[in-house]
Amino acid sequence: MQKRTLGKNGLAVSAIGLGCMGLSYGYGPATQTQQAIKLIRTAFERGVTFFDSAEAYGPYKNEELLGEALAPFRDQVVIATKFGFNFNAEGGQSGMNSRPEHIRQVADAALKRLRTDVIDLFYQHRVDPEVPIEDVAGTVKELIEEGKVKHFGLSEAGARTIRRAHAVQPVAALQSEYSLWWREPETEIIPTLEELGIGFVPFSPLGKGFLTGAINENTAFDSTDFRNIVPRFSPEARKTNQALVDLLDRIALQKKATSAQIALAWLMAQKPWIVPIPGTTKLLRLEENIGAAAVELTERDLHAIEDAVSKITVQGDRYPAHLQARVDR
Ligand SMILES: NC(=O)c1ccc[n+]([C@@H]2O[C@H](COP(=O)([O-])OP(=O)(O)OC[C@H]3O[C@@H](n4cnc5c(N)ncnc54)[C@H](OP(=O)(O)O)[C@@H]3O)[C@@H](O)[C@H]2O)c1
Repeated sequence: MQKRTLGKNGLAVSAIGLGCMGLSYGYGPATQTQQAIKLIRTAFERGVTFFDSAEAYGPYKNEELLGEALAPFRDQVVIATKFGFNFNAEGGQSGMNSRPEHIRQVADAALKRLRTDVIDLFYQHRVDPEVPIEDVAGTVKELIEEGKVKHFGLSEAGARTIRRAHAVQPVAALQSEYSLWWREPETEIIPTLEELGIGFVPFSPLGKGFLTGAINENTAFDSTDFRNIVPRFSPEARKTNQALVDLLDRIALQKKATSAQIALAWLMAQKPWIVPIPGTTKLLRLEENIGAAAVELTERDLHAIEDAVSKITVQGDRYPAHLQARVDR
């Protein structure tokens, strides 16, 4: 698979990464360990060298899974993980925590779970309003100097925060939601990243599965599935938003591709420094998603998509209010 570079310090990754969250957390019961290991190793065999995790996924279990799955070829892959939360005894998130001493503890624990001596990309998962971003960037800078971390990243950070952080420690990548049904980053974030030379890693590039056409208004999610509380996934919203999936379907047919592949190819066509990280628990879908790297959208295709999408208004917020409040703007 082609490679792309994130940031100015040469972080080279496959043009499509693997989002590993759903293997342990978020979308129903965790995948059985051996199956999950097989999926991750198949991704590597197919050319994926960029794997996304977080302390919060599980919590802890996802990093342990990646540690085991990637151990045989650790030196050939880029592992990204994240810090920034406290957890209660049941494993639920109990607030943000990006205090310097906490970041250091999380780094040491993540290194053990990931069975490695260096974290390739260490993101702050959410901007902590209690801790100046300069202190966060300064702490990651020290971890880089100590050899425990290679690159610094932010997630869901606003433009001002990105600039302040970048002035202390160059940011290699921003990981935020971006897809055909969430285009807010286009107004301020993407121009800021372009100006500063920071890479962009869109999360939920398949709209949490919706843009693939595999979900409709009648789909029932597992009781532990996060999408049950997302307004954009209410049955009424799904019904309205089906127009977007139908559009993707039509383009996919013309391009002899699938809707998922068009959604990913569209992201990659926006900038050469955009690297989507679709998540899946299924081998067939993994192959399909990786296949998007070979789908080329011409200027004409992109105009046709733009034109059609501009006529559709997506219904429903992408987060419930209490989670939207955590997003830095
Ligand atoms: N920084 C953050 O705050 C943040 C937030 C969310 C996610 N992330 C990261 O971003 C990654 C990707 O985001 P995401 O998992 O939320 O959303 P996504 O990649 O947009 O979609 C994942 C969902 O789509 C389904 N799917 C995947 N490929 C498919 C295909 N070809 N056809 C039909 N369905 C398909 C998956 O189900 P199956 O498993 O059944 O295939 C899963 O339910 C995560 O794994 C995580 O690493 C980061």
